[in-house]
Amino acid sequence: MCGIIGVTSKDDAQDYLISSLQRLEYRGYDSSGIATIHKNRFYSRKAEGKIKNLNGKLSGNPLKGLIGIGHTRWATHGSVSELNAHPHIAGKVAIVHNGIIENFQEIKDRLISKGRIFISQTDSEVIAHLFDEELNKNITLKEATQNVLRILDGAYAFVVLMLDDPDTLIAARNASPLAIGKGDTLCAVGSDGIALAGITNQLIFLEDGDFAILSKNKISLFDFNGNSVQREVKSNTLDPAVISKGNHKHFMEKEIYEQPETIAHTISEMYTSDGRVSENLDKIIKEKPKSITILAAGTSYYAGMIGKYWIESLVNLPVSVETSSEYRYRSPFIDTEGLVLAISQSGESIDTLMAMRYAADTGVKTVAIVNSLGSTIDREANFSLYTRAGAEIAVASTKAFTAQLTILLSMCIALAEDRGINQEKISAIKSSLFKIPGAVAKALTLDGKIIDIANNIMKSNSCLYLGRGPLYPLSLEGALKLKEVSYIHAEGFSAGEMKHGPIALIEEDLPVISLLAKDHHSIKTISNLREALARGAKLIIFADEGIENNIDFAHEIIRLPFINEEITPIIASIPIQLLAYHTAVAKGTDVDQPKNLAKSVTVE
Ligand code: AGP
Repeated sequence: MCGIIGVTSKDDAQDYLISSLQRLEYRGYDSSGIATIHKNRFYSRKAEGKIKNLNGKLSGNPLKGLIGIGHTRWATHGSVSELNAHPHIAGKVAIVHNGIIENFQEIKDRLISKGRIFISQTDSEVIAHLFDEELNKNITLKEATQNVLRILDGAYAFVVLMLDDPDTLIAARNASPLAIGKGDTLCAVGSDGIALAGITNQLIFLEDGDFAILSKNKISLFDFNGNSVQREVKSNTLDPAVISKGNHKHFMEKEIYEQPETIAHTISEMYTSDGRVSENLDKIIKEKPKSITILAAGTSYYAGMIGKYWIESLVNLPVSVETSSEYRYRSPFIDTEGLVLAISQSGESIDTLMAMRYAADTGVKTVAIVNSLGSTIDREANFSLYTRAGAEIAVASTKAFTAQLTILLSMCIALAEDRGINQEKISAIKSSLFKIPGAVAKALTLDGKIIDIANNIMKSNSCLYLGRGPLYPLSLEGALKLKEVSYIHAEGFSAGEMKHGPIALIEEDLPVISLLAKDHHSIKTISNLREALARGAKLIIFADEGIENNIDFAHEIIRLPFINEEITPIIASIPIQLLAYHTAVAKGTDVDQPKNLAKSVTVE
């Protein structure tokens, strides 16, 4: 949720810290701060709001110091204020933290009773006090760290800066991501590869319970018990330039427009150019699962719901789709002969990670469908399938969603081929797979028409999205996208459910956005739309080109390229993303970093 960075170098740390925080802003952006050590004292600057505010405070008055830490915050404990912004300093220690210290109140009460004074309302400040207390005990840094880790409960990734060791950083992780970076003249630690892009070309992802002690030219890694550990060194291929908007006004727009390419890359992750399943996919098919359980949150969850429609109807395998945050708390039935798919763009959503771990404890095999290589979910799953969407920076997920759908549809084809069922249908879908990027590119040309619709929607206080079959979860995704970026209240419903209650919401001029595919539902959905129209709804229909029924009664009709009815959810994702984007632009919201949200949700 928050982004953290620490650098110990031969050059001043400030520029590294700021450039990294700018890239990490997608993780949280309500306040930020940095601290350095120079001439045996701490220097710190903090600001509410985005990094540009912090930059403003530093320009003309930069912080000197070869070592420093930085933080961009998504508030959990304590309001958004400079006081609660990190770094937090206690005595000779400064810290930045991502996560939640669950037993902070108990620790804080104990420390206050010993005379310690707390300045912020955060849970994080206890970490600084605990280190300051331990480091006064004339013990080694390693012993002090172990002592602190034994006290802390909860999820954390933190970095510690110490006046008495002005070349050294301590970093530790438990259930919140953290990567160590090694460069030629510096060492660094950050929330992920994006934090360290352009700073270090080597990455070491810490595992839960690991901690690291690093100086400019030495990295020592330990597990929770203080044993030295070796972790794989990976190269950091992320170019800081990819984290740029190019010619686009927002990352969200850029990412929507990248989809023909990202879908093509994802297809080639699943199939070789001669149509054979890839090695990674083949391993999963060979597991011959008797059922599939999908664990995911938000947009990834809606991708999973669409996957259920595909897999059950085409492969005849039972699929359950579970909201990660509910799963492990409801004692679910787990079929150990099945496969569990954890779908996550970031690969770090704590709800999905914990749900996957809960399932894995029963011995069931797990598959990660992730966009971030090397993320915790990727590393912990038995198998991984990668959405090749590239870095997704806008908080609202777009290209990762269509890449997840591409993986699920490809997997469905491979499972059906392996079982020899629905062969005619499956071979038609398979040969259409490679036409998706072209159809998506065509759907993107509808942008102009969608801007006109968005300019009307932006005047509404509420909208409904309707769909049926696999377009029902897509209507939920459409509503989520609109809510997230434009702050307009929106709900998605199955068109067939309207008459069971939601129809009471229809009033004069309420925008009803309907997704219509050329499938066996279309006649029934059209009747549901007429029912809404009769009650005053303003009907906007996104319909397959293939639909022959008369839908001229709608106020707006946008025709979408049609390849195959199973593929329609991927194509229909484009107009709903564009509609949310343009409505947000028309309303003037902060499209890439909407209020209250964060890209990667690493707290429960
Ligand atoms: C998408 O627009 C959202 N910001 C959010 O729902 C997101 O999909 C969810 O938090 C899951 O994230 P993940 O895919 O990284 O696990």
